[in-house]
Amino acid sequence: MINQKLIFARAYESTIGPQISREERPVFHLTPWVGWMNDPNGFSYYHGQYHLFYQYNPYDVQWDAMHWGHAVSHDLLHWSYLPCALAPDESYDSFGVFSGSALEMRDGRQLLMYTGVRKEGNEKSSKDIQVQCLAVGDGLDYRKLDANPVLDASCLPEGLSRHDFRDPRMWQEQDGSYRCVVGSCDRNRIGALLLFRSDDAMHWAFESVLARNDGSIGTMWECPDFFHLDGKAVVLVSPQDMLPKGFEYHNGNGTVCMIGRFDPERKVFIPESDQAIDYGIDFYAAQTILTPDGRRVMIGWMQNWDTCKQTDYEERKWFGQMSLPRELSIRDGRLYQQPIRELSLYRSRKVAYEQVPLSGEVRLDGIEGRCVELDMRIRPQSADKPYHKFSVRFAEDEKFHSLLSFRPYESLLKIDRKFSGSRRAFIHQRRALVQQRDGEIHLHMILDRFSVEVFVNDGEQVMTATILTRPEARGISFVVDGQAVMDITKYDLFAGE
Ligand code: FRU
Repeated sequence: MINQKLIFARAYESTIGPQISREERPVFHLTPWVGWMNDPNGFSYYHGQYHLFYQYNPYDVQWDAMHWGHAVSHDLLHWSYLPCALAPDESYDSFGVFSGSALEMRDGRQLLMYTGVRKEGNEKSSKDIQVQCLAVGDGLDYRKLDANPVLDASCLPEGLSRHDFRDPRMWQEQDGSYRCVVGSCDRNRIGALLLFRSDDAMHWAFESVLARNDGSIGTMWECPDFFHLDGKAVVLVSPQDMLPKGFEYHNGNGTVCMIGRFDPERKVFIPESDQAIDYGIDFYAAQTILTPDGRRVMIGWMQNWDTCKQTDYEERKWFGQMSLPRELSIRDGRLYQQPIRELSLYRSRKVAYEQVPLSGEVRLDGIEGRCVELDMRIRPQSADKPYHKFSVRFAEDEKFHSLLSFRPYESLLKIDRKFSGSRRAFIHQRRALVQQRDGEIHLHMILDRFSVEVFVNDGEQVMTATILTRPEARGISFVVDGQAVMDITKYDLFAGE
């Protein structure tokens, strides 16, 4: 049975969505069909294609009354919109259908688990009541269960909050049983991840506190993911209210990857290390999928909550993009990320230079474009001809540019969109401490119409930012203080059909 709110949302998006032209959207990054998008939800492979749902307000370019938008893809790069999957149309989710996940059940149906939110209290002071709910479907239409919610406050261990209990991430174990991990926090808003178990994916019971924030990593932990990769157990979380820690973590909402092991007796995760997932400005709420060929692929919301609050929304037809899907691996105890390999199928017009001496301002023939891939290796010209700073400017026109700069003595890499045309006082720069290998830094940049993603040293670190400059700004130039030498390869990235 499809409810009125969903019928309305579907009619609205299929009328207004097609009015946004392809040129007004990124080439390879998913945007909402219309309106607002935040977190990726229900990232899954079902009946021969990838499904990606997303936090969605079709009616405005600002966050409100969360629905689940829906898109499908064969290569994780080209997406087709499907009708809105879920609307906030039940008493237990009347304030919003918040983030969650998806899987294929043993009987072949697709199962969505999401957080239903309603308000308790009065107009002056009200609080969220957050519960976990299920909807079953065929890849297009979904029916919320009569038994909803399937997890509520009665399932919570002592001291954990029913106001912050959200973002279930489900998976199926080898033995066929199901698990999910849900974010919550205690009275001091210190985050915890709760593990639940089910035999039939319909009835769920508390199993353990999988991981706890010792108070040093933000407050509430949102959007958890948990999986095994390269012999390690891995937890991804997006903590709220982080404090900075060196160049690793920055203020505000952040992303954290913890690598460790899983104790199957106590059913707890024992972290051995933690690190930022992304060192740039715009990346949050990551979710992963295991592809049919065995790759662990992650996608995140390419935005920053604090920036959204200061953004000018006028003249926008959509707001919010997903990052590129990234292949994950663990090397030497660290998370590595690579742009999904399918992207290389869309390369054209290669231009390559080796050993280009760089000093002062330099432009290279054929190195330009707005939807491009740039692979750069930079080193000093020689021991007695060093450099102090290397910058690459991109999305450049006569007036504006964004840039990436590297100072080898401090080994600091900076992403900077201060000169991109922004007129607001939100975060424009972020720095990361990176490694040089044999005196060389390796930068792999993917530029799309509204974003840049930089993979440093084969994906050891990633910096992501959205950029505002008009897409016609296609210039790329280099500025070096001192004497550097660079190997560079550029490809245009074309959308294909
Ligand atoms: C994270 C988040 C989630 C929540 C959703 C609501 O970005 O706050 O915790 O489910 O967004 O849209």
